[in-house]
Amino acid sequence: MAADETKTNQDNVSESQIAVHWKEEEYFEPSQKFIDQANLTDKNVLEKFGEDNFPECFEEYADMLDWDKRWDTILDSSNPPFFKWFVGGKLNASYNCIDRHLAKHKNKTAIHFVPEPENEPITHMTFQELYVRVNEFAAVLQDYCGLKAGDTVTLHMPMIPELAITMLACARLGVIHSQVFSGFSGKACADRIVDAKSKYLITADAYYRGGKLLDHKEKADIAVKHAEEEGQHVEKVLIWQRYPGKYSGETPIVEGRDVFVNDIIKDYYHKVIEPVSLKAEDTLFLMYTSGTTGKPKGAQHSIGGYMAYVTGTSKYIQDIHPEDVYWCMADIGWITGHSYIVYGPLALAASSVIFEGVPTHPDAGRPWRIAEELDVNIFHTSPTAIRALRRIGSEEPAKYNYHFKHMTTVGEPIEPNVWRWYYDVVGKKEAVIVDTWWQTETGGFLCSTIPGLHKMKPGSAGPGVPGIYPEILDEEGKPLPKGCGKAGNIVIKNPWPGRMLTIWGDDERFKNQYYTRYNRDPESKDWHDWPYFAGDGAVEAPDGYFRILGRIDDVINVAGHRLGTKELESAALIVDEVGEAAVVPVPDPIKGVKPHVFVSLKPGFSPSPELEKKISDTLATEIGPIAKPGRVWIVPDMPKTRSGKIMRRVLGSIAQGNDTGDVTTLANPQIVEEIKKLY
Ligand code: WT7
Repeated sequence: MAADETKTNQDNVSESQIAVHWKEEEYFEPSQKFIDQANLTDKNVLEKFGEDNFPECFEEYADMLDWDKRWDTILDSSNPPFFKWFVGGKLNASYNCIDRHLAKHKNKTAIHFVPEPENEPITHMTFQELYVRVNEFAAVLQDYCGLKAGDTVTLHMPMIPELAITMLACARLGVIHSQVFSGFSGKACADRIVDAKSKYLITADAYYRGGKLLDHKEKADIAVKHAEEEGQHVEKVLIWQRYPGKYSGETPIVEGRDVFVNDIIKDYYHKVIEPVSLKAEDTLFLMYTSGTTGKPKGAQHSIGGYMAYVTGTSKYIQDIHPEDVYWCMADIGWITGHSYIVYGPLALAASSVIFEGVPTHPDAGRPWRIAEELDVNIFHTSPTAIRALRRIGSEEPAKYNYHFKHMTTVGEPIEPNVWRWYYDVVGKKEAVIVDTWWQTETGGFLCSTIPGLHKMKPGSAGPGVPGIYPEILDEEGKPLPKGCGKAGNIVIKNPWPGRMLTIWGDDERFKNQYYTRYNRDPESKDWHDWPYFAGDGAVEAPDGYFRILGRIDDVINVAGHRLGTKELESAALIVDEVGEAAVVPVPDPIKGVKPHVFVSLKPGFSPSPELEKKISDTLATEIGPIAKPGRVWIVPDMPKTRSGKIMRRVLGSIAQGNDTGDVTTLANPQIVEEIKKLY
């Protein structure tokens, strides 16, 4: 497996290597009004965080936190690539997000919760209330469940404030949380329970999405059942109620296993749990993400390095001040929500918005009504959401009286036209935009402009953020100079505090996936020999701005989130009739990219629309609606090389109606024409 993972898809690599020709976009300047209030306006910041001052520069971020004990070693790089930050230091993440703000901000809103139904009022939880509720739930975890520092729990929670409360309660005890995106299926949740070896599942009974109250508890039943089958026993399922005191789920409560938090928490009213003083390099949480093999990998994030990094970047790149109302529309079930809804903004005592539902429900004016009502001034979302809001409601933002000073785009490349709509219409030409490139594994931003210092350029993320030194390497590992017009693989030359510690339970895979590709000497103890391989193709423009082209491995980025092609293919293979499956990414006007599934059938079966639907539904139930294919193609056979490898590149061209190029070297070139007829 290890060797396989470092081998990138040759077809795609050669594509990313060819010279890239695109129009250089015009710059946009941040307004003087923004600059006058910005957190970071020091023109020398990139030198201050330059290689000469590395790793000391990152003490500036660590100093934004309260430590029980200061670190002795800033960066321990004695065992590459297992770098450790702020070693010897002790702290607690929950304390840093809550307790330390009480003296000045106890009566300030920490979390604005916006339920999806517009007739339900927005609720505002102060830092004091957050403190009380986090303590009570920490008491449940400690005294009722018997959990302690280093144990793992899996969360499968929707976008309700109880998700943030649960995470912060875990952090208070040093219990490692692993939140699974609520849109994922019970089966996907089970796989993550098994890998994390969680004995507890924390979930909610129901939540609103697209106007419907969805039963969520049924997924817990499926998750527990599958986890048992795979050898992981779940002792208890803790259920938060969408309407406290009332059960909104549809499946029966399992006696002895299912408990309502609302019932048990009564025994812990106003109980105070002292935050546990933990080592900087202890684990805060796991966040599963797709890799090149079927099994999702748990990115294991630290307490000290991660918290320092998300706090520092929230302050400098998101420009968060305590008086800001900050709304990141991502889901907390992804890394964006962990870093930039919960931990970063709350560490800075900002008011963070949690929105339960779909941005276009009941209409595309909804986000702007929320922004107006709460006076949101920092807004953060993905190109997929921007495209959807633009398509169905391009005139909507102008109808509402809100004013953003700052906006973020994240998760996938944004088309310059879409960027300009975001700037002109959503931002009303007043807001700066940061296009932030990073990954689940990296904890926080890697490339972005600094909002009060740099010009913006539509479609380009920008230079490395302070303390991050990116570089483009060719296949041999030679740097491609900026402005050379060639694309290559983007790497980060140095370690940084937000990077994950490792892949949970699989150090080898961590090393192979991110470091083997460009490591100069496996014995070297010098971090300079260990560039971080991100798996994205990119180009560096003459001005040093990086433009990210997308994944080069077998990973599809749907609506800003990674799905492994292998994972999707295995789901398609669950359908009895399916003999072989191949998944390819196809551009989509809203989602950026959608998976198209090609299948050939076992002998004796024939294609039908019903079968196509069955395959599509299986992907949605196995993985989640996000995996729903753009199209299922039932083909007579797969185009294959003589060694038997399915030619995904050829399938990708067919799916897009493009020329398939030279296919004469295939074992079965005639099949290409047959598949083309299905277009
Ligand atoms: C992949 C990481 C970053 C948190 C959300 C997704 C793509 C991310 C950008 C951007 C172009 C981007 C990359 C990356 N990506 N941000 N600003 N411009 N592409 O986290 O699921 O770990 O996905 O998303 O391909 O590798 P993720």
